[in-house]
Amino acid sequence: MTDLSPTPLMAQAADRAAYRDYAQPGIDRVREFYRANHQHQTYDFVLAKKAKWLQFQQREMSPWDALDYLNTLVDESDPDIHLPQISHLLQTAEAIRADGHPDWFVLTGFVHDLGKVLCLFGEPQWAVVGDTFPVGCRHSDRIVYPEFFAANPDSADPRYNTEQGVYQPHCGLDRVHMSWGHDEYLYHLLKDCLPQAGLYMIRYHSFYPWHREGQYRHLTDAQDEAYLPWVQKFNPYDLYSKNPRPPVLAELKPYYEDLMAKYLPATLRL
Ligand SMILES: [Fe+2]
Ligand SMILES: [Fe+2]
Repeated sequence: MTDLSPTPLMAQAADRAAYRDYAQPGIDRVREFYRANHQHQTYDFVLAKKAKWLQFQQREMSPWDALDYLNTLVDESDPDIHLPQISHLLQTAEAIRADGHPDWFVLTGFVHDLGKVLCLFGEPQWAVVGDTFPVGCRHSDRIVYPEFFAANPDSADPRYNTEQGVYQPHCGLDRVHMSWGHDEYLYHLLKDCLPQAGLYMIRYHSFYPWHREGQYRHLTDAQDEAYLPWVQKFNPYDLYSKNPRPPVLAELKPYYEDLMAKYLPATLRL
């Protein structure tokens, strides 16, 4: 993994311990979020959500209009951010740009949470945001709030509660069903638009049990292992660029409009 030195656009190392602190006061909102998430995200639930949402029959919007639309959402799972979604996306992308990364990487940062529009289509937040994990096999005890999986029916189902579950060893993450959320949805929406490294960042940026905790390596294949450093490279920009300094949207908009025009279709079918 490439070392990521803090830039002026990212939180300094000494401040980083304050992020993803689920024990901080007033965090019951996050705890209750994960209680529902872990109880209801079953194998069958994920298959049903894929069948529904990967038809992309909800509405058509330009990428910029979709970002504007997303801006009405507050993410209940995030203990750190109280900013509008577009501010988080701008800060993430600007921190990536400031470090001189390629434009597709900057764009990946700018759109990585766009899949959260599912919340605005009526999905509960526990089915859209938060950390992700494989379904169809045993839950790692390194997933946040693992005790809540006791209420998940799959935990008592012998088809799904062994280490391999329904999967072959090293079958590759593409064959693994992840808990349903904005990562998987946006990956399918953009899978023809970005380089593979950007797609991995989008699809697995919430898969902390893998990219941070080193779990589920018995399911990954050589391609997953090759792209894991990219997912890890992306993570600090997602986390530590959540500074409360508001980005200047008006100044940045022309640059990002050009970037979206270069890589994305004029109209997204959501
Ligand atoms: Fe996200
Ligand atoms: Fe994010």
